[in-house]
Amino acid sequence: MSICYLNGDYLNIEEAKISPLDRGFIFGDSIYEVIACYDKKPFKLSPHIERLLKNLESIKINLELTELNLSDIINQVIHENNSKNQVIYLQISRGPEKIRDHTPQDYPTPTIFVSSFPMKVLPKKEIEPIEVIMQDDFRWRKSSIKATSLLASIMYKIEAKEKNVSEVILHEKGLITEGSVSNVFCVKNKVIKTPSLEANILPGITRETLIDIIKKSSYELIETDISIEELLASDEVWISNTTKGVVPVSKIDNQAIVNRQQEEIFNEILELFMTEIQADKNQ
Ligand code: PDD
Repeated sequence: MSICYLNGDYLNIEEAKISPLDRGFIFGDSIYEVIACYDKKPFKLSPHIERLLKNLESIKINLELTELNLSDIINQVIHENNSKNQVIYLQISRGPEKIRDHTPQDYPTPTIFVSSFPMKVLPKKEIEPIEVIMQDDFRWRKSSIKATSLLASIMYKIEAKEKNVSEVILHEKGLITEGSVSNVFCVKNKVIKTPSLEANILPGITRETLIDIIKKSSYELIETDISIEELLASDEVWISNTTKGVVPVSKIDNQAIVNRQQEEIFNEILELFMTEIQADKNQ
């Protein structure tokens, strides 16, 4: 049984109810965050809340919420649930209305929902490289907003499941954007590249963390265009997100990554990422 937060109350998830006229349900008129929690401590909480507050502003949901209120709620949900390692899912919709109308009323009351799921954290040696496919990026032009209207990602994930692979790497006009639920990194001749935020991608918190880590390491990191051909010719390809951390890719469209036997740089960066998790816990 897991305990969630809904509009001021902490409840068993089975008892949490919202109106079918909630704009989040009817229109996908809502935004969300997914936050990893290690040993009961949320990882990179401030950047997650900052992104959420920015997204609320972008879609004009007016809420008197501060970073403090939100982190109190998140920490309470973590405390109410048993698992040491949790995935915190936080969603804010514009709220319920009496009639379905695309134009929001002036003051609907936003719905705030925070829930927790146990998170599986794999020891380093058990992180298995994944196989992926590539697809044309047919999503909307504002992928920087972490919106719950995720039909495109669901379609990609169904395709991935049918092809027995774990993720879909997207491209637009021959250039890599991101994964359906992740950001993408590649390595060639010891230089690490990731698409820049101009590429209609989500500014992933894990991406940002990895960029900071790499910049402090001996490796060069470039945020730049990556062509499909360049990705396929990489020595290493990784994907990153909150729930999986950073994971190496073994095959793209059934084609093996050229030099992946070593995954040399991946292993070093993963080590640094794990150190960062420990450091963040102690803050
Ligand atoms: N998704 N890009 C997309 C399209 C994503 O959906 C995600 C994460 C990321 C990585 O962002 P972050 O490092 O902040 O998790 C990039 C989450 C995990 C989800 O929808 O469940």
